[in-house]
Amino acid sequence: MDQVVESLVKKSPKKVHIETWGCQMNVADSEKILSLMKKEQFEMTQQADDADLIVLNTCHIREKAKHKVLSRLGVLRELKERNQDLKIAVAGCVAQAEGKKLLQQAPVIDILIGPGKIDDLPELVRNSKKGSPEISVGFSKAKEKVTDISCLQAADVTESLNGKNEVTRFVNIQQGCNNFCTFCVVPFTRGREISERPEVIYAKSKALVLHGARELTLLGQNVNSYGLDLVKNGRLEPSSDGPFVDLLNKIAKIPGLARLRFTTSNPHDLTFELANLFGTEPKLGKYFHLPVQSGSDRILKVMKRKVTAQEYLLKVAWLKNAVKDIAISTDLIVGFPDETDDDFQQTLELINKVRFSFVYAFKYSPRKGTAAIRFKSQVAEEVKTKRLAELNRIQDKITIEHNLAEIAQEREVLFLYKSQKESHIYYGRTSQFKLVKVRSQRNLIGELAMVMIKDANKTALVGELI
Ligand code: 5AD
Ligand code: SF4
Repeated sequence: MDQVVESLVKKSPKKVHIETWGCQMNVADSEKILSLMKKEQFEMTQQADDADLIVLNTCHIREKAKHKVLSRLGVLRELKERNQDLKIAVAGCVAQAEGKKLLQQAPVIDILIGPGKIDDLPELVRNSKKGSPEISVGFSKAKEKVTDISCLQAADVTESLNGKNEVTRFVNIQQGCNNFCTFCVVPFTRGREISERPEVIYAKSKALVLHGARELTLLGQNVNSYGLDLVKNGRLEPSSDGPFVDLLNKIAKIPGLARLRFTTSNPHDLTFELANLFGTEPKLGKYFHLPVQSGSDRILKVMKRKVTAQEYLLKVAWLKNAVKDIAISTDLIVGFPDETDDDFQQTLELINKVRFSFVYAFKYSPRKGTAAIRFKSQVAEEVKTKRLAELNRIQDKITIEHNLAEIAQEREVLFLYKSQKESHIYYGRTSQFKLVKVRSQRNLIGELAMVMIKDANKTALVGELI
């Protein structure tokens, strides 16, 4: 009997715990990590102290990234003291940017793996031995990647991390970025742009929809330039609408798919054809996240954003002409080197002109390896803090006004998840990406239903099924 129990204990699956910082790209990478480890017979656990493998999927885009990782590793070291077999992996952009230096500072790390090398993780876990860390950083070349699409399953693409996003799933369409905006570390941590082939993206998308996804979000650092590399190296035929519009047209036709979204975009690469597609393709969510970063042409120029505020406004006008009630959000940086009060006022003016549905605003954070870290006239921290607060105050008012204007409107809502805290409460999003809370006795998850909006606050709308 004891032997039977022992063998059952031995065979119980190992557990992986994944902690994810940063953008949707990192969430998608964590889903991929989970998918890879499940194939290695690992199960997911939400508790670090229950895990055989802990993966910290890190973000390096803004300050204190390394600091945060080291302090988390300090806590995890205690777990390792209790469980000698526990393996700790640091993945993501901090792993890529810091490399071996991180191992010296945190000997508790068993595996160091960059965002371009995720596929290596199972092998690194298998090879990992106490006292000799496994390392895989750097960038894969386009040619190295071969994906067999003949029998692709949803689980081969990604695994939902928290059960919340079974209905809405990410599909990675592109790695890296070629833009080198002077503040941004992404081209250094994720490498140059490499687009996935359209047929692979189609097969992955179809597999996810067959598995129950109703909404897909195509992900890349600069999706508007998707496929230009494939055209350039002769692997894709040039077309009049461009490869990204062709891709969206193709994916939108997948039967069963209710909504299609994408992120993130650089305004420079947003084409008229793409803006127009919002008027003709009903599955395309009426929402565009278009990071502008600043409203001052002087600052935009030193940021190397390649568009002026006026050109940005023109692209916004294309979108608004295509769909009158399109929601537009943006990213803004305050306190970029040499940003004067006048530059900052121009950013506020832009906010008032566009009337964004939402703004993600950040204090400029000098990043090692980027051009802007060497710029003279870095702005004082107190000034950044003051500007950020003022910007958020102005935008919050606009966000609330947008949300209040939704009251008494009928909106089509795709329901995504059930509240964990309140019974019979479901959450979904409108085409404009607004979060809606609805009470229902029947299960709404995955349903596209008409809702009358009854109330609103800064973060969500409240509605009733019609
Ligand atoms: N400092 C502050 N914000 C930054 N972002 C990127 N790099 C930095 C930086 N060094 C912001 C940009 C970008 C978003 C993802 O993060 O606004 O669009
Ligand atoms: Fe970074 Fe985006 Fe600029 Fe690329 S386009 S360098 S990801 S800010």
